[in-house]
Order: sequence, then C-alpha cells, then structure tokens
Amino acid sequence: MIKKAIILCGGTGSRMYPLTYSINKQLLPLFDKPMFYYPLSLMMLCGVKDFIFIINKGQQEKFEKAIGDQRDLGIKIKFVVQDKPRGLADAFIITEKLIKDNSIAMILGDNFFFGNMLSPLIKESFNRSSGCNIYLYPSNKTSSYGVVEFDKKNKIKKIIEKPKKSNSKLIITGLYVFDKQVSSIAKKLKPSKRKELEIVDLINEYKKINKLKTIQLGRGSAWMDVGNFIDLQSTSNFIQNIEERQNYKIGCIEEIAFNNNWISKKNIENRVSFYSNTNYSKYLKSFISSK
Ligand code: G1P
Repeated sequence: MIKKAIILCGGTGSRMYPLTYSINKQLLPLFDKPMFYYPLSLMMLCGVKDFIFIINKGQQEKFEKAIGDQRDLGIKIKFVVQDKPRGLADAFIITEKLIKDNSIAMILGDNFFFGNMLSPLIKESFNRSSGCNIYLYPSNKTSSYGVVEFDKKNKIKKIIEKPKKSNSKLIITGLYVFDKQVSSIAKKLKPSKRKELEIVDLINEYKKINKLKTIQLGRGSAWMDVGNFIDLQSTSNFIQNIEERQNYKIGCIEEIAFNNNWISKKNIENRVSFYSNTNYSKYLKSFISSK
C-alpha cells in the first residue's frame, strides 16, 4: 500500500523564462489554482497523506504560503531542496532517508491528470506495489517523452527516452511507483548524455529484474504536462471549461480531504478565510453548506 508520495517541484523551468527565474514553475497558476494542487489532489484521492515536496533553493517559504496550514488539509508535507537539477531519478537519492523501508509514489508537479476512472485505477495499483509501476497514455508526441514498445505477445520490449521514431504511441506519464530498493538502484545509475539521472534508466533496471508493471490509462482520461506557455494556457482552458460546465472544481484539495474524512467542517471554514474573497472560497462555502 502506498502511503507516501514525492511531488517533484524542482527543475529550471527554462522553457518558461523569465517567469521561472524567480518562481518554481509548479507555483504558477493552472486556471484558478497553483499547478502543484492537481498532482497533490490526485495523490490525496488515492489515499496518500504523507508528502515530500522536492523544490529549488529559496522556494520553501513560497510553497508554504501557497499551501497554508497543512493541518486544515489533513496532510503532512516535508520539503527537500534539490540544489541542482540532476534528473528525475535523483529524487530518490536525495530523499533516501525519508523513504526508509517503504514503497513510494512519485508524481511530477507539472503533470495534470483528469478522468473519473483514474483514481480507482491508480488506487488499486497502489495496493499491489512491489517493484515498479508506470502509467501509460496514448500520445502522438512520442519524441517528447519516455516511450514503451511492446512485442507481438504484448510483452514490454523496450523503454526509450524521447525516441526520434517509435512504433509505439504509449508514453510514460509522470507518475511512478517504486519499491524500497529504489534509492539503492538510483545510486548506481550513470548520468545520460544530457548529464541527468534518467527515470527511464531506473525503470529499465526494474524491467531487467522482471519487476516492472505497466498500467494503461484509458483513452477517456486526460493527461497533460505543462512544459511551456502554450501548455499552460491550453491546460488552464481545459480546466476552466470543465469547471464552468459542471460547477465542480478540479483539484479541490479541501473537498477531497473532507470526503476522505481527514478534516472537519471547521477546517474547511479556516480554508474559506485562507482563500479570502475568491470563487474558490465561495465554492468551499457552498460545498460545506451542502454537508
Ligand atoms: C520526463 C521523463 C519522461 C516522461 C515525462 C512525463 O520528461 O523523462 O520519461 O515521459 O517526464 O511528463 P521531461 O519532462 O523531463 O522532458
């Protein structure tokens, strides 16, 4: 059972300069909330209460301000500063002492997942968590992501980072589960040509020992990663469209915590003050009055 998750909020965000010179990309808004709310909310929907945020130097106070009082959310967040971006797999080296003997999930702070079947599917996979789980999604932009190729018997043939060409359209999203061996395996990896410890190299190590599982996210779900300004805008538009039509908020961490029985009405009232005079606080007020 997965009880802890890393939310990766580091990186240079260089494709979003000059904004990301002064602020972590994951603090930028996706429509009406900070970007990191969405991966955080997905993990909360899957029952995770314990978080490690990997952030850049000088950003902790900004994250703390954007989160507010963690007790009102029923979660616990520890911050770990990554002094230099050394690749996704480095996350498991710098958090080794916090992972201890547990399996752990990691989700990228700029990844947006949406779909009503997603959290049951992911939650179920969190229950049988030995080895490594990766979560695949069909994409026509395989050259931008990690890609999984299967053979005719549907066995994993190859896992490649950003291939120029591929006969597969299944890419690896930024959600991973690893067992307790992850830090020791990550420490043995060698940096790639782009001088990073690559997540696909780590995944390939689990493939070698037959401990890799793939979980396919259905075509009726949405997955987006926010790498540049165009993604920022289109993902924001997507969220705005759905929220305005349904009158439900996506990624509302208070609603999830309350539905999980982690917090009380009083906590939600505190959050109403936290959000002050915004649509978000109005949403929370009407949510709580319906309970
Ligand atoms: C990273 C991973 C890649 C994965 C992607 C998902 O790419 O290296 O395997 O498919 O995240 O967002 P990056 O965002 O570093 O280019």
